[in-house]
Amino acid sequence: MDPRHNQSEAVLEARDRAALRALFGLPTGLLLVTFAYATTRYVVFGPWNVGHVPLYVLNKAVAWSALSLVALALALGPLARLAPGRFARHLWRRRYFGIMGFLLASLHVVMSFPILNYAYYRQFFRQAFELTALAEFSMAMGALTWFVLLAPLAGSLPGAREQMSARYWQCLQKIGVLGLLLGGLHVSYGVPGWFTPAAWYGGLPPITLWSAGGVAVALVLRALAWRTAGDAK
Ligand code: HEM
Repeated sequence: MDPRHNQSEAVLEARDRAALRALFGLPTGLLLVTFAYATTRYVVFGPWNVGHVPLYVLNKAVAWSALSLVALALALGPLARLAPGRFARHLWRRRYFGIMGFLLASLHVVMSFPILNYAYYRQFFRQAFELTALAEFSMAMGALTWFVLLAPLAGSLPGAREQMSARYWQCLQKIGVLGLLLGGLHVSYGVPGWFTPAAWYGGLPPITLWSAGGVAVALVLRALAWRTAGDAK
């Protein structure tokens, strides 16, 4: 066999291995940590029993990991601008974090529908079948988040960058920031619980608070990097 063929196959394999590691490595770790947190908060200290782990509790870990990965994908660029020595070499990973964030967000949507009812989410409903205004706003923001994130996802697919002008490709990526903002608004249903620490199960802050915190950190980093770039001009 042509040794050049073997060499290029080895290069491709190494590239695929690195891509798979980026796609599954950190996201798996994140899922394990968020799942352990959600189980501790809701089953160990909260009122939910083990029977609710496969859907209700796991859905929380999936949702939290999804939003955190989207936030991380959008924070890596600014981090690389603010501290290039530390973060520039990780820039290529953001595409994989974004893709996995979107896939997990889609899984979260599918997992939410079977349990989105009065028995599971009493605080979302005015009556058994009518959402409160805050819950309706929050669910609308969730649906919009998913829809808006389709734009950066399309730009992140293999070959998309090569087929597009740099300007419009960047435009697709920037729409992701709007998606992140909408994701922050989606968890607004949890705001009333943020100010009652005495009611937090096991003293552990709500997942909505952690999720909104991740969104806020990513947005602040983007603002800082943008200001730094402005100062440099
Ligand atoms: C049609 C779209 C969506 C629906 C119907 C939906 C539904 C829900 C529901 C029912 C909850 C409450 C979960 C709970 O407290 O147990 C929730 C929370 C959450 N969702 Fe969504 N969601 C949608 C889209 C999204 C998207 C696109 C993302 C992320 C990119 C996302 C991230 C989150 C996060 C981080 C939480 C907080 C989890 C928690 O506090 O347990 N959601 N969503």
